[in-house]
Amino acid sequence: MPPRTTKVLVGAAAAVLFVLLSAPVAAGDGQAAFTAQKCNMCHSVPQAEIVAKVKSETMKGPDLPNADRDAAWIQEFVSRKVQLDGKDHKKEFKGTEEELAAIAAWLVELKNTK
Ligand code: HEC
Repeated sequence: MPPRTTKVLVGAAAAVLFVLLSAPVAAGDGQAAFTAQKCNMCHSVPQAEIVAKVKSETMKGPDLPNADRDAAWIQEFVSRKVQLDGKDHKKEFKGTEEELAAIAAWLVELKNTK
Protein backbone atom coordinates (compact mmCIF):
# COMPACT_ATOMS: atom_id res chain seq x y z
CA MET A 1 0.00 0.00 0.00
CA PRO A 2 1.42 3.46 -0.86
CA PRO A 3 2.19 5.47 2.29
CA ARG A 4 -0.36 8.11 1.31
CA THR A 5 -3.20 5.57 1.25
CA THR A 6 -2.12 4.27 4.64
CA LYS A 7 -2.19 7.78 6.03
CA VAL A 8 -5.69 8.39 4.66
CA LEU A 9 -6.92 5.12 6.12
CA VAL A 10 -5.44 5.85 9.53
CA GLY A 11 -6.98 9.30 9.39
CA ALA A 12 -10.39 7.88 8.52
CA ALA A 13 -10.19 5.30 11.29
CA ALA A 14 -9.25 8.00 13.78
CA ALA A 15 -12.20 10.12 12.63
CA VAL A 16 -14.62 7.22 13.06
CA LEU A 17 -13.23 6.47 16.50
CA PHE A 18 -13.52 10.11 17.46
CA VAL A 19 -17.17 10.23 16.43
CA LEU A 20 -17.91 7.04 18.35
CA LEU A 21 -16.17 8.21 21.50
CA SER A 22 -17.63 11.69 21.49
CA ALA A 23 -21.23 10.52 20.99
CA PRO A 24 -23.41 11.55 23.94
CA VAL A 25 -22.82 8.61 26.25
CA ALA A 26 -25.49 9.52 28.78
CA ALA A 27 -28.29 9.27 26.23
CA GLY A 28 -27.74 5.65 25.22
CA ASP A 29 -26.78 4.56 28.72
CA GLY A 30 -29.83 6.24 30.18
CA GLN A 31 -32.21 4.40 27.92
CA ALA A 32 -30.41 1.09 28.54
CA ALA A 33 -30.54 1.66 32.30
CA PHE A 34 -34.22 2.62 32.08
CA THR A 35 -35.11 -0.77 30.65
CA ALA A 36 -32.51 -2.65 32.73
CA GLN A 37 -34.08 -1.20 35.89
CA LYS A 38 -37.53 -2.11 34.56
CA CYS A 39 -38.86 1.44 34.59
CA ASN A 40 -40.57 0.40 31.36
CA MET A 41 -42.75 -1.98 33.36
CA CYS A 42 -44.84 0.98 34.43
CA HIS A 43 -43.79 3.94 32.30
CA SER A 44 -44.19 4.61 28.61
CA VAL A 45 -41.71 6.96 26.95
CA PRO A 46 -43.43 7.96 23.71
CA GLN A 47 -40.41 9.81 22.26
CA ALA A 48 -38.31 6.64 22.56
CA GLU A 49 -41.16 4.31 21.50
CA ILE A 50 -41.14 2.60 24.89
CA VAL A 51 -44.53 1.23 25.91
CA ALA A 52 -45.31 0.35 29.53
CA LYS A 53 -45.67 -3.40 30.02
CA VAL A 54 -48.17 -3.58 32.86
CA LYS A 55 -51.78 -3.79 31.86
CA SER A 56 -53.13 -2.65 35.23
CA GLU A 57 -53.91 1.07 35.22
CA THR A 58 -53.43 1.28 38.99
CA MET A 59 -49.83 0.04 38.73
CA LYS A 60 -48.98 2.12 35.71
CA GLY A 61 -47.15 5.42 36.13
CA PRO A 62 -47.48 8.51 33.95
CA ASP A 63 -45.76 8.75 30.57
CA LEU A 64 -42.25 10.16 30.85
CA PRO A 65 -40.62 12.59 30.65
CA ASN A 66 -42.74 15.13 32.46
CA ALA A 67 -41.81 18.57 31.12
CA ASP A 68 -41.93 20.13 34.60
CA ARG A 69 -39.13 18.01 36.10
CA ASP A 70 -35.40 18.51 36.14
CA ALA A 71 -32.74 15.82 36.53
CA ALA A 72 -32.11 16.50 40.22
CA TRP A 73 -35.79 16.12 41.10
CA ILE A 74 -36.14 12.91 39.07
CA GLN A 75 -33.17 11.37 40.90
CA GLU A 76 -34.42 12.42 44.32
CA PHE A 77 -37.97 11.29 43.68
CA VAL A 78 -37.03 7.91 42.24
CA SER A 79 -34.61 7.26 45.12
CA ARG A 80 -37.38 8.33 47.54
CA LYS A 81 -35.61 11.35 48.98
CA VAL A 82 -38.51 13.61 48.01
CA GLN A 83 -42.21 12.87 47.69
CA LEU A 84 -44.88 13.77 45.18
CA ASP A 85 -48.21 14.83 46.65
CA GLY A 86 -47.11 13.41 50.01
CA LYS A 87 -46.26 10.00 48.55
CA ASP A 88 -43.07 8.11 47.79
CA HIS A 89 -42.38 6.81 44.28
CA LYS A 90 -44.22 3.58 43.73
CA LYS A 91 -41.12 1.50 43.17
CA GLU A 92 -37.94 1.43 45.25
CA PHE A 93 -34.88 2.02 43.06
CA LYS A 94 -32.40 -0.85 43.22
CA GLY A 95 -29.77 0.30 40.74
CA THR A 96 -26.65 2.43 41.15
CA GLU A 97 -26.34 6.20 41.48
CA GLU A 98 -24.67 6.23 38.06
CA GLU A 99 -27.58 4.44 36.45
CA LEU A 100 -30.07 6.79 38.02
CA ALA A 101 -28.04 9.83 36.92
CA ALA A 102 -27.91 8.44 33.38
CA ILE A 103 -31.67 7.79 33.37
CA ALA A 104 -32.43 11.28 34.65
CA ALA A 105 -30.07 12.88 32.11
CA TRP A 106 -31.66 10.87 29.32
CA LEU A 107 -35.20 11.85 30.33
CA VAL A 108 -34.26 15.52 30.55
CA GLU A 109 -32.52 15.33 27.20
CA LEU A 110 -35.65 13.83 25.61
CA LYS A 111 -37.80 16.53 27.09
CA ASN A 112 -35.50 19.23 25.74
CA THR A 113 -34.95 17.82 22.27
CA LYS A 114 -38.39 16.58 21.24
C1 HEC B 1 -44.39 -0.54 39.70
C2 HEC B 1 -44.54 0.51 38.72
C3 HEC B 1 -43.42 1.53 38.55
C4 HEC B 1 -42.10 1.29 38.25
C5 HEC B 1 -41.40 -0.04 38.06
C6 HEC B 1 -41.47 2.59 38.11
N1 HEC B 1 -42.38 3.58 38.33
FE1 HEC B 1 -42.06 5.57 38.21
N2 HEC B 1 -43.94 5.95 38.81
C7 HEC B 1 -44.92 4.98 39.03
C8 HEC B 1 -46.14 5.64 39.46
C9 HEC B 1 -47.45 4.93 39.79
C10 HEC B 1 -45.88 7.02 39.48
C11 HEC B 1 -46.84 8.15 39.88
C12 HEC B 1 -46.46 8.68 41.23
C13 HEC B 1 -46.44 7.58 42.27
O1 HEC B 1 -47.48 7.06 42.63
O2 HEC B 1 -45.33 7.20 42.68
C14 HEC B 1 -44.49 7.17 39.06
C15 HEC B 1 -43.86 8.39 38.93
C16 HEC B 1 -42.60 8.56 38.40
C17 HEC B 1 -41.99 9.83 38.12
C18 HEC B 1 -42.60 11.19 38.36
C19 HEC B 1 -43.50 11.57 37.21
C20 HEC B 1 -43.93 12.98 37.37
O3 HEC B 1 -45.07 13.22 37.75
O4 HEC B 1 -43.11 13.87 37.10
C21 HEC B 1 -40.75 9.58 37.61
C22 HEC B 1 -39.72 10.59 37.15
C23 HEC B 1 -40.59 8.16 37.57
N3 HEC B 1 -41.73 7.56 38.06
C24 HEC B 1 -39.46 7.53 37.12
C25 HEC B 1 -39.26 6.15 37.20
C26 HEC B 1 -38.00 5.52 36.90
C27 HEC B 1 -36.75 6.22 36.43
C28 HEC B 1 -38.19 4.19 37.10
C29 HEC B 1 -37.17 3.07 37.00
C30 HEC B 1 -36.02 3.21 37.86
C31 HEC B 1 -39.57 3.99 37.52
N4 HEC B 1 -40.17 5.21 37.58
C32 HEC B 1 -40.13 2.77 37.81
C33 HEC B 1 -44.78 3.63 38.87
C34 HEC B 1 -43.58 2.98 38.60
